[in-house]
Amino acid sequence: MGKLSGQTALITGAASGIGKAVAIRLVEEGANVVALDRNADALADLSDHLGDRCSVLAGDCTEAAICEAGVELAQEKFGKLDTTIANAGVYDWYKRIDRMKMEDVEAAFEELFRINVLSTLLLARASADALRKSTGSLIVTCSNASFRAGGGGTLYTASKFALRGIVYQLAYEWAPQIRVNGVAPGGTVTGLSGLDTLESASRRLDSEQRTVEMVAKASPLARAAEAEDHAGCYVLLASPRDGVNLNGTILVSDGGLISRMG
Ligand SMILES: NC(=O)c1ccc[n+]([C@@H]2O[C@H](COP(=O)([O-])OP(=O)(O)OC[C@H]3O[C@@H](n4cnc5c(N)ncnc54)[C@H](O)[C@@H]3O)[C@@H](O)[C@H]2O)c1
Repeated sequence: MGKLSGQTALITGAASGIGKAVAIRLVEEGANVVALDRNADALADLSDHLGDRCSVLAGDCTEAAICEAGVELAQEKFGKLDTTIANAGVYDWYKRIDRMKMEDVEAAFEELFRINVLSTLLLARASADALRKSTGSLIVTCSNASFRAGGGGTLYTASKFALRGIVYQLAYEWAPQIRVNGVAPGGTVTGLSGLDTLESASRRLDSEQRTVEMVAKASPLARAAEAEDHAGCYVLLASPRDGVNLNGTILVSDGGLISRMG
């Protein structure tokens, strides 16, 4: 028996990186998973890998209808929804707003905040009734940039601080039926990519050796994390047994970076 036997989870950004690692771990722990992502090819690979216990949904999670379809799919295919994980995200590659053209600030804000923040709100809204019914939980992928400066540029940092606010506010509003928590990874070797509006969509963190080295150097553990390193945090928060008293908690999984910075 796994820690999440009989549970069903919906995860956005599940085709790559942290979301994919979490989807795989949840299935290992006995859960059924609905994996939502805009990358249909990578989702098909995940489906081949996980088999019947994973249903995939290709689409853009900034669209309300796709978030609703994810919740419906979980209920139709697996009978209920216990955990929703708002994980999809993009990065601004430390771009300073004073080095953007004025019109680019607005365009980049629209793109980044729609993906990092609006999709989380839509997914949370779409999941609320189902999670209330199952006395389930919402988990939001935050970042160490939810707590400090320098983990990205101004837009990324602002978006991740906003996610921290969403976790705290919903934990307060949705208790006692639904627990709401977050995971805050530090720098992790994934395909995390940039923005069309800043012409950085093709940049991937795992292709940038200098960034990976910089992340490893900054960490007290002297290593850059792998996506799998964070998966246990999600299992703990999703677990109705081990996570029963966790609400409004953001588990920081950054090798000690924030604690060193004070
Ligand atoms: N990699 C890091 O260093 C790091 C650190 C802290 C937090 N995070 C956060 O972790 C989360 C996952 O990122 P990752 O590092 O695994 O990157 P990743 O690029 O490997 O995975 C993100 C996934 O989200 C999907 N996605 C993006 N926009 C989408 C949309 N509009 N609709 C549907 N799917 C969409 C992508 O296709 C991709 O599969 C993000 O929220 C990111 O901010 C990452």
